[in-house]
Amino acid sequence: MAVVLITTGCDRRGPDGEQVDPREKIVIKFSHVVAEDTPKGQAARRFARLVQERTGGRVEVQVFPNSVLYKDGEELDALQKGAVQIIAPTTSKLSSLAPQWQLLDLPYLFENEEQVHKALDGEIGKKLFATLEPHNIHPLAFWDNGFKQMTNSKRPLVHPRDFAGLTFRVMINSQVLEEQFRKLGASATQMPFNDVYGALSGNQVDGQENTMSNIYSQRFYQVQPYMTVSNHGYIGYVVLTNATFWRSLPPDIREIIEETMAEVTRWEREQAAHINDKNFRQIKESGKVQVHILTAEERAEWQAALEPLYEQFKPVIGAELLEEAFCLKG
Ligand code: LMR
Repeated sequence: MAVVLITTGCDRRGPDGEQVDPREKIVIKFSHVVAEDTPKGQAARRFARLVQERTGGRVEVQVFPNSVLYKDGEELDALQKGAVQIIAPTTSKLSSLAPQWQLLDLPYLFENEEQVHKALDGEIGKKLFATLEPHNIHPLAFWDNGFKQMTNSKRPLVHPRDFAGLTFRVMINSQVLEEQFRKLGASATQMPFNDVYGALSGNQVDGQENTMSNIYSQRFYQVQPYMTVSNHGYIGYVVLTNATFWRSLPPDIREIIEETMAEVTRWEREQAAHINDKNFRQIKESGKVQVHILTAEERAEWQAALEPLYEQFKPVIGAELLEEAFCLKG
């Protein structure tokens, strides 16, 4: 009788605690907070299918999208306890474990995905990964979403002064994002992703920042009549597994997971830009949003208003990491 092996992230035993033949089925719970038709949602499903196929069914990856299993603020703890085996949070959310991760929240740090990939696939990514080992977390990959846009329900956001008095939702755990809005004369509220639509439609906050795919897939655009295409910050993900669970896997399974993850990462990074472009078109076609695309002069105004964040957060992020990021900008 094949025992379905529920990995607790600590050891590999059957339901009654008995040692189970390592050739038996391994179940991986992959929990995330976004919709399925998004860069992360599609990549999670693709990863699950390919791993199941390539292990001949020995590994079953169960994907739980849209915060159905764990929401923001819960999933990291669930991973560390071994209640789930893979999560892929936005890098910002790891700032609760190591504040250096806020580097990636700095507005206008990166101008394009190429610079992001140089940073994350190089020394900066390695240094950030190293902050996770003490927390029983093994990092597997960096996935893309894209650059963030501003939306709100009150007025067009063209100049920094237009933010005065507004309130914005920001991702949890990032002081950089809270301070970003204060520098623009607004205030910020940290909030789990799955609460954002309700907060916007209920006017608990005036606006938010996110990628086109999240603005579209969570229907934020339906309750946010003003959107500014600012590309002021980047949202990317780090795919994580529980380190104890990872070490408990047979080497051949680990190899298949690593190779599949590398392949899916390449695929996901190509898909992310297409999905965001498609969702931007759909937002415009909805007729529900007045879209303003920042001009170069307006972007320069925003950058000047936000520049002080770099000096302010240098002690938190680390001068070396910040310097390395700047060198990539050329
Ligand atoms: C957010 O919280 O706005 C995003 O991190 C959600 C996501 O995972 O893309």
